[in-house]
This record gives sequence, C-alpha cells and structure tokens, in this order.
Amino acid sequence: MKGLILSGGKGTRLYPLTYTSAKQLIPIANKPVLIRVIEAIRDAGITEIGIVVGDTAPEIQRVVKQGHEWGVNVTYIPQDAPLGLAHAVKISQDFLGDERFVMFLGDNVIQGGISPLIAEFARSDYNSQIVLTQVAQPEQYGVAQLDQNNRIIKLVEKPKEPPSDLALVGIYMFDANIFEAVNAISPSWRGELEITDAIQWLVEHNYNVHPYIHQGWWIDTGRPGDMLEANSLALEELTPVIEGYVDRDSQIDSRVTIEKGAEIFNSVIRGPAIIGRDTRLVNAYVGPFTSIYHHCVIENAEISRSIVLEHSQIRNIGHRIEDSLIGRHVTVHRSPIRPRAYKFTLGDHSNLGLLGDGGS
Ligand code: TTP
Repeated sequence: MKGLILSGGKGTRLYPLTYTSAKQLIPIANKPVLIRVIEAIRDAGITEIGIVVGDTAPEIQRVVKQGHEWGVNVTYIPQDAPLGLAHAVKISQDFLGDERFVMFLGDNVIQGGISPLIAEFARSDYNSQIVLTQVAQPEQYGVAQLDQNNRIIKLVEKPKEPPSDLALVGIYMFDANIFEAVNAISPSWRGELEITDAIQWLVEHNYNVHPYIHQGWWIDTGRPGDMLEANSLALEELTPVIEGYVDRDSQIDSRVTIEKGAEIFNSVIRGPAIIGRDTRLVNAYVGPFTSIYHHCVIENAEISRSIVLEHSQIRNIGHRIEDSLIGRHVTVHRSPIRPRAYKFTLGDHSNLGLLGDGGS
C-alpha cells in the first residue's frame, strides 16, 4: 500500500498564523501535526508516501525533505489550487498507480494511530474503507447514514438535519476504482471536487465501501480551539522526560517534558506540559496543557492551556495568559520602565483580549 497526505489548502480558519506558513506544521505537544501523520502511516507499515502541496510547499519541503528522517520516502505532488480532496486524489494518480492506498488529511490528529484500520483494509476485499466516529455536532462534518447491516446508504456534507452522529474522520482507504469516481463527479456549489461525492459515487455503483468506527479521540485541527484541544489530548499521552536544565528553585510536576538545551530558573511548571529545545523560563509559571516550542523566552509571566510557537518571547506580564495560540517570533511584554505599558508585536488579524482595568 501507499500513503497520500493532503497538505495543500489555505488554512483560512487559522489566520493569521497560516497567512504565510502551513497549518500542518503547527506543533501539537511540540511535534508538527504533519510529522504525526507521517509517523502514523509509517507505523502502519507504509513507507511510500505522496504529499499533496500548495502555496506552502517550500516550507513543508524544508521540514520533511525526502522523509528519510522518519524512515519513509516522500514524493511531492503540487496542486495549483485547493480544488478539493477528490481533486487531490485525481492529480496523484501517476504516483499511486494501481496500488491500494490510505489518504490522510495533513491537519488531522487521531488517537492510537492507524495500524488496526490499515490491517483490516489490507486483509479485506473492500474497494474502500472510510473511518467514522461519533461526534456531538454532526452538522459541522461530513456525515454517514448506515443501514441496519452497517452498510453505507449515504454521505452528506455538513447536513442541516444530520441522518446520524457519525462523522467522517479525515482518513480514507481506496483501491484504484476511486479514479473512476473522481473523474465522474462534478465540482460542488463551493467549486471543489468533494471526496464525499466520490465515495457516494462508489456506493451507488455497488463498490464495497466499508465503514470503520473509530473509538478513541480524533481532532480536525481547523480552528485555534481545535489546536488547543488536540494539544491537551496529545500532552496527556506524552511520556515525560527531562533533558534540559532545571535549577533548584524551580518546581516541576511529574508530567512535564523539558527538551534539550532548555533552561528553567526559579519557575513552576504544572503538567501535562512541554518546554521546547533551547527555551528559557525565568520566574515563570507554566500551567497544565501548555506547549512552549523551541527558542522561546517566558520571563516574569504566567501562561496555561496555550501553545507558543518558536522564537517567541513573553515578559513581565501581570496577568496569566490562558487559552492562547501565540505565533512565531511574537513578542508580548510590558515595559518595566514608565510608562508601564504593554508592548505587542501582533500580526494582521491578531486577536488580543485585555482586562478592562489595564492590568496591575
Ligand atoms: P480543509 O481543512 O478542508 O481546507 P483548508 O486547509 O483550505 O482550510 P480552511 O477551511 O481553514 O481554509 O483541508 C483539509 C486538509 O486537506 C488540509 O490539510 C489541506 C488539505 N487540502 C489539500 O491538500 N487540497 C485541497 O484541495 C483541499 C481543499 C485541502
């Protein structure tokens, strides 16, 4: 089998973080989502992987290269515009040939990997296997309707009246019949070739499409809130290691990972949390469900349930920062000299909430 990862798209829901950079490279518990996807496919025994890329191709190639660091061989498949998931399959036909393959959306995170579902598909004669999971708000997803024998009757995108609470997870398995489907369908009202339409086409033409019900958690990291949720869940599963320096005045909880080169002075860290490579904490508090990426500085500040990306600095902030997603090379600080003002470097469309009284 081969793997196909979709890593093009625009990422509009994560603006401004994704104006210039790929959303698939945003780290969850300090590991980019795309690398988690590559590792999940590799752990299922698949080493030939195609990655569909768009405008952010150079950044993705700089990080993933040929994939050898993760024990896989990567082929890049450029997509001129994000014309839909089924369009991405269409342009990947030369790479995929006649082989069965797993397609994985490069911004999805799933608990427990995909080895069991790949194994089931590999030993079956299914033409396709789709992954479904129960969700609280099915109207926000692609939803499947099954009959009493668990066969798929219908797939609908974001239905106003959902026929079930089973949402399509961004992982799909196909054989070469999918190419006939993607060539037969037309673009939807939003101008995209929809993968749900292609799967519906397979169902209607009596191909064997099997639903696999996933039991653990799964997150489509489309919006900032999803990123923080995925970060919390991934941090809970991390095995803690302390590889950096912690001074005697600091208190570090047992569920904390401190990466190489990090330095912690007179600070408190409550897990689960991770402090990245070469990051410095001075007189800081880092609370549960927080990931600070590499080369950051947190000084005289408190932060919890947040993600801070690389090379950012937070200093001298009187109030605790919570539920925040802070980009790369960001500085947030309050000047220690008068006027004691907050000083920010914020990108376009940044969202900053300050206390009404101006802080202490
Ligand atoms: P989406 O989240 O559906 O789309 P998007 O990335 O453009 O995000 P937004 O809605 O915030 O603008 O895409 C799911 C994944 O598939 C994501 O990793 C991007 C990728 N993708 C492609 O590679 N090609 C495409 O044509 C589309 C639509 C998405």
